[in-house]
Amino acid sequence: MPENNENILKEIVDTGISEMKDMAEVSDACGHFRQLLIEQLTRELMMEQDTEPPKDFSKLDTVTIGICPGDGIGNIISVEAERVLRHLLADEIESGKIVIKDIEGLTIENRLEKQQAVPDDVLAEIKTCDVLLKGPTTTPKGGTMESANVALRRELDLYANVRPVSIPEEGIDWTFFRENTEGEYVLGSKGIEIPGKLSMNFKVTTESGTRRIARAAFEYAKANGKTNVAIVTKANIMKQTDGNFSRICHEVANDYPGITAEDWYIDIMTANLLKEERRSSFQVFVLPNLYGDIITDEAAQIQGGVGTAGSANTGDHYAMFEAIHGSADRMIAEGRGQYANPASIIKAGAMLLRYIGYGEKADKLEAALNDCVEVEKKVVITGHDDGATAEEFTDYLITKL
Ligand code: IPM
Ligand code: MG
Repeated sequence: MPENNENILKEIVDTGISEMKDMAEVSDACGHFRQLLIEQLTRELMMEQDTEPPKDFSKLDTVTIGICPGDGIGNIISVEAERVLRHLLADEIESGKIVIKDIEGLTIENRLEKQQAVPDDVLAEIKTCDVLLKGPTTTPKGGTMESANVALRRELDLYANVRPVSIPEEGIDWTFFRENTEGEYVLGSKGIEIPGKLSMNFKVTTESGTRRIARAAFEYAKANGKTNVAIVTKANIMKQTDGNFSRICHEVANDYPGITAEDWYIDIMTANLLKEERRSSFQVFVLPNLYGDIITDEAAQIQGGVGTAGSANTGDHYAMFEAIHGSADRMIAEGRGQYANPASIIKAGAMLLRYIGYGEKADKLEAALNDCVEVEKKVVITGHDDGATAEEFTDYLITKL
């Protein structure tokens, strides 16, 4: 079959309908693909051979928290999250157990100027910290400039994107484990284009990459008394990548006898999340990168909006916490930036606190947030000037801590 196709292509080229350069493009693309394959196989083998034990963040004498404000509303909401962290950690900062480091330069202007998704000097600064609180960054559409998020997740090997969504009055307590370093994203800016003719992107599922996200999901389920993990793919269509993702998750599930692992397809799962009588039965989800990206926005919306959800990007040696939404440049353009909701990045701050061993402070912060947003509703964010500013909201929140 492939040889046949090559003959057909040659015939088309000979008739002059297409140009000879298309054949040259095919050879170039094959060379490019070979490089990608070698690169990804090397990454897989390195993961397989990584025996360094995970860092126990809670046992560090000093924990350095880096803060990168990002772009757009990121500059506004991350200031508020930093204020909350500084308030809750005042004693630890005083005694030197916690160091907060403001990191500059993760801005779209600087990234475009340096033509780097994360400029080298900024990355070096980030790596001197143990954990990072990051504001949303603008991702240029098209072109070859990679998203800063994607680059950071890769550079710091943050393979688990953990996104909780909870609506206690409905009995919803979901935790999404989105694979964060491969899938549709890892080669998202390295696809192939034959201009005016076709474009192709690649999706990558590795054995080790899937095993480690599955392990994270099942370990979480076990530690938190959860009895069900939904493995969400489109394995009926993406036979190789999603097929293997599902198989590997089931293999990992065998080590967790009290927990049932159920296969779901992503399309019906997005529908099920809207089914009130069905959705509260789901507990933990494990899924490839892009489906995880999409469904967690849906889940956050069900919770009250993307401005209400925090997100942890964790690896074995580093962790980064952020809001799940983007930099909302439209709000800035319309002069509404100061009315942006800081709840999402503050929630990410609570996740950060828990991660570095301050569970009680995290509980306190989450309870205060819930009180402000769900119970009292005295200081309300609407995103417009009929609501509170991010600063006013945070001032009030801090009085509850
Ligand atoms: C997210 C965001 C990012 C993603 C963007 C900003 C690159 O949507 O964290 O969900 O697609 O992962
Ligand atoms: Mg997203």
